[in-house]
Amino acid sequence: MRSENARSNLISKAKQAMSNAHVPYSNFRVGAALESQSGVVYTGCNIENAAYTPSCCAERVAIFKAVSSGEKKFSRIAIIGDTETPIAPCGVCRQVMIEFFDNTTTIYLTNLKGDVKETNINELLPYAFGPEALD
Ligand code: THU
Repeated sequence: MRSENARSNLISKAKQAMSNAHVPYSNFRVGAALESQSGVVYTGCNIENAAYTPSCCAERVAIFKAVSSGEKKFSRIAIIGDTETPIAPCGVCRQVMIEFFDNTTTIYLTNLKGDVKETNINELLPYAFGPEALD
């Protein structure tokens, strides 16, 4: 089916991006692939730093690449890590997602075993402080 192919294409792009992770401290690789509504895919990997706090998660790298390229509307994101169950994005990334995603932005959380949890930001970050709070 077309949507299943689209899903596995996005997941394989996230997996490819995982190999670029800069993770000398955690040794925990994460990859992300974010598709804009205009159909462009932006990938990201986690990038750690010797000072620790400047480190950035894979999904935020992908979102910031896309937004800095002029994109603001997204259809889907795939996030992958070598986890027992589908990877869970950190709280900071969920807060960044609520800025740009709504419940029509599909989030595929996955792992190297091929488990996939399909969700959305309202499920991952209920009762959020989002952009509408400042309207
Ligand atoms: N990390 C991500 O890149 N995304 C996630 O969803 C979870 C955690 C990164 C941050 C850090 O580089 C490493 O994984 C260990 O926490």
